[in-house]
Order: sequence, then structure tokens, then C-alpha cells
Amino acid sequence: LSETTTRVLFLDGSEHDEVWINEASRILLDEGLVAFPTETVYGLGALGLDETAVKKIYIAKGRQSNNPLILHVSSLTMAKSLVLDWPEIGDLLAEKFWPGPLTLVLKKAVHVPNIVTGGGDTVAIRMPSHPIAHALIQAVGAPLAAPSANRSLELSPTKAEHVMKHLNGRIDLILDGGPTEAGLESTVIDLTTTLPTLLRPGPIPRSKIESVIGPIQLIDRVDPTQPLPAPGLLDKHYSPKTTLRWWVPGQVIGKNERLLTLDPDPITAAATLFTQLHELDELNLARIWIAPFPKTEAWAAIRDRLDRASKNG
Ligand code: TXA
Ligand code: MG
Repeated sequence: LSETTTRVLFLDGSEHDEVWINEASRILLDEGLVAFPTETVYGLGALGLDETAVKKIYIAKGRQSNNPLILHVSSLTMAKSLVLDWPEIGDLLAEKFWPGPLTLVLKKAVHVPNIVTGGGDTVAIRMPSHPIAHALIQAVGAPLAAPSANRSLELSPTKAEHVMKHLNGRIDLILDGGPTEAGLESTVIDLTTTLPTLLRPGPIPRSKIESVIGPIQLIDRVDPTQPLPAPGLLDKHYSPKTTLRWWVPGQVIGKNERLLTLDPDPITAAATLFTQLHELDELNLARIWIAPFPKTEAWAAIRDRLDRASKNG
């Protein structure tokens, strides 16, 4: 990878943002890489149906090529153009949760390149609600492939400075729209299984999805010797460089160790989780301990991320 200069443009909700959105869309149409805010985390965007552009995402992130990407759309028509057939429950979910932090996995249309789907026959699709993400996809006029804008397996970015830390010199542009709202990646649900399958817990809880489409199943703990149904959902992931472990009350916290205590409100805890981890990770600690929190559904997505993040060191 040749070093590129990564520019940062600040968007503040004023009329001038349009100029920067157009600038970003030109870079994307030119097969470049642009990081942008969404309502979940920052995404690393490229033209989603262009193999050359998508390949650059894998290189910049150091991502395994069998780990598929989410295509981000700005309309239902654009979403439907990416699949072989669109099930009725897709309409129910889209009506209720789009635009928003829900990703649907469906059978891919023939023209969706294999590089996007990790070689598989399904494609993940999401319609983000963040105004910058929406405006950018609209300006480009085509779906954007966008994984979280971090180096593979590392902490997800909820601020432009997190993207800078990971990807400076490896991407063309970062659109800085301030901290992201939800702070955790979208809920991912596979609609190609007989019973829909929750592949990744996220901001939209399982119960809310079930209230719209009825019972769904959880993905089984995956056999690591088998082909991975959704690689990012397994093993070690979302990890700081510092060793991270669950703390048990009473356990002594050493001199160069710190306790990660989350906000008591799960929504605020999610919004600030990765920022807290990024900050603790800069302190060169020997260990970060995770303070316990409730085992309720509201905490499921946070627990999921910390379970994977703590399989490090
Ligand atoms: O909130 C989000 O979803 C963010 C923002 C930027 O939109 N994006 C994101 O992308 O988290 P990424 O690539 O970091 O995570 C996508 C997850 C991965 O675990 C990937 O394996 C899974 O979705 N995935 C993508 N396509 C899939 C497919 N066809 N089948 C199963 N899982 C898929
Ligand atoms: Mg990710």
C-alpha cells in the first residue's frame, strides 16, 4: 500500500456541508476510500459494486477477504436492486427500522461482486439514518460498501479521531461529523434461514425485531474448523491492544491496571463504550478490567462486544 495523505473535512450541519459531500462523492466515484459517520460507528466507504474500490477497503483495514461487507443504501429501491428476491418480512423490518441501525442479510443479485460477499451467495444491506451517510450515498447514487473504519479486529471508531488513529495514510478522506450516536454496530439479521437468525446483537434489540416478525433464532457458537457464516461475529474482535478481562468483585486491581466502569444507563454505556476503551488503551496499562453490569437484554450488545474484545492478549 502506498502512503496517501488522509484529509479531514469537518461537517457541522450548515449549508456548506453540501460542498464537502460533493467532494467526498467525487473521491468515491474515482474509486477512492472515504470514512464517514453513521448513527452506529464510523464506516469506511467505497463504491460497493466496484471490485477495484472494494478491494482497497480490505487492504486498508487488513481484513480477511472471506469476511463480507455491508452495502449501505439510501432508498428501498436501491436495496431491492441488490437481491435476488425480497421477502415480505424484509418490507416489515424496513418499514419499522429503516433508515436505522439494522442490517438485513438476503440472497444476493448476480451483479453484486463476490468480493463484497466474501465469496458467499448472500449480501448484507443497511439504510443508515445519519444525515451525512444518507447525503453521501445519495450524492454517489449507488450503494457504498462500508465496514467499521478501524484496522481489522481492533476497536471500532465512534469519533473521527479514532479513524485517524487507525487509518491515517491509508485512506483518502475522513468526513468528521462528530461522535456517533449509538456507539455500537448495527444489529445484523439473516433472512435467508427458515427462521430468521440474529447474527450480531446491536442497537435494535431482539425483542423489538420479534415484535415485528415473530420468533427469531440466535446463531450457534460457531465451529472454528468450519467455513464461517459471518466471520466478524466470532472469536476475538473489537479488541484494544491492552489485555482486557472480566473483573470479579473482590479481585485486587493492580497498580498499572484500571477498572472499566460503564454508565448505568445502557444507551449511554453503548454510546461511550468504544471511546472509553480507546482512551484506556492509550494509557499503556498492564490490564483493563471490566466491571460487571446487568445480565438483561438491554445490555446484550455491549456484553457481546466485550466478550469478544476480552479474548485478547
Ligand atoms: O453499524 C454497522 O453495521 C457499521 C456501519 C459502518 O454501518 N458497519 C459494520 O460493518 O459494522 P463491519 O464490516 O465492521 O461488520 C459487518 C458484519 C461482519 O461481522 C460481517 O461478517 C457481517 O456483518 N456480514 C456482512 N455481510 C454478511 C453476509 N452476507 N452474511 C453474514 N454476515 C455478514
Ligand atoms: Mg467491524
